Amino acid sequence: MSFDFQCVVDRSTTNAEKYTLRQKLFKSEDVLPMWVADMDIETPPCIVEAVQKRAAHPIYGYEEVPLSAYEAQIEWMKKRHGFEMKREWMFYSHSVVATINTAIHAFTKPGDKVIIQTPIYPPFLSNVTRNGREVLRNPLKRDNDGDYTFDLDDLRSKIDADTKLLLLCSPHNPVGRVWSQKELQALADICLEHNITVVADEIHSDLVYAPHKHIPFASLSEEVANITATAIGPGKTFNTAGLAISTVVVQNEQMREAFDDAYERIHFAQGNVFAHAGFEAAYREGEQWLDELLIHLQRNISKLKSLAQRHSDKIRFIEPQGTYLAWLDCSGLGLNSRELKRFFVEEAALGLSPGVSFGKEGKGYMRLNFAVPGPTMDDAIAQLDLALSSFDEY
Ligand SMILES: Cc1ncc(COP(=O)(O)O)c(C=O)c1O
Repeated sequence: MSFDFQCVVDRSTTNAEKYTLRQKLFKSEDVLPMWVADMDIETPPCIVEAVQKRAAHPIYGYEEVPLSAYEAQIEWMKKRHGFEMKREWMFYSHSVVATINTAIHAFTKPGDKVIIQTPIYPPFLSNVTRNGREVLRNPLKRDNDGDYTFDLDDLRSKIDADTKLLLLCSPHNPVGRVWSQKELQALADICLEHNITVVADEIHSDLVYAPHKHIPFASLSEEVANITATAIGPGKTFNTAGLAISTVVVQNEQMREAFDDAYERIHFAQGNVFAHAGFEAAYREGEQWLDELLIHLQRNISKLKSLAQRHSDKIRFIEPQGTYLAWLDCSGLGLNSRELKRFFVEEAALGLSPGVSFGKEGKGYMRLNFAVPGPTMDDAIAQLDLALSSFDEY
């Protein structure tokens, strides 16, 4: 490997949320934080260098996102995902969550129903209710092998004339599914039939493990592209969430006008000067780093898998097809949500995201962020191994 995924970096000298919120969330500074979805792995050198170069220029005034930055992402999406985008379809957004909020304003009115497929990244739920829209819950179902899939019968039975929007998470946080072409097409057919607009949050799309392949929802067909707004960005892929830059791709002109109207009311401006430099460097020069990162993340998956095999009566590891988030089925421990969180904090000294924060369907689960250097992963595994081994005495 040309890049170092073993180096443990001290983040205590920065304001890293993962660390600063430990006391508030876990009532302890001693937990290894494996919750919020950023990496404890260094951002690729090409990005660090581009930001440093920009920082060396002493004027940080207003800037436009340069055309060359958009072009870099367009080329990346075509090469890695076969997704054709045009500059005129794209908006800058500092945050995918902000994009979702803007889209809710653009494509629905108060009282409309928005489909959410739970368990789900929490802002999906709160964005809908905070904006005065109604959540239409379409929980994922587990198939015979225990894998999650869409429940399309449930969806069909719930759609009514007020159902206007579907918030798709692809790949899915927290369950780690990379949806197949067949699954996406079946979902798209329902949306087309009922005139439902789709916001496809594809922020995790570059973090996919072979043989799985990310299929951009809007790439299914021209008619699907016409009902879709796609949110993508380098935040998860290259660990640049703190640079606050992503894009939204809206091919349909009418939808674009509606989005633009909501967008201008908020005033998204044009991002920060460091983000522009980092964004372009990521998409132009970051490919080899990403390929090596994926190998490293797969090693961490293997470590988790062996741990779960050793404690198969207590914990079930649902191997992710994408994302760096492991969805752990802890129902074998027989603990309620509060006890489960306490077990991880007090017995394993690990700060994880409780499954119930992703909706009630997450009861009995914990989400573990395994985007950490090798030695940190080994510490986490050892801590959890010990805690599970002594669980009977808990
Ligand atoms: C599915 C999903 N969407 C959006 C975000 C957040 O994106 P942003 O920081 O650009 O708002 C996350 C972060 O964990 C996520 O998992």
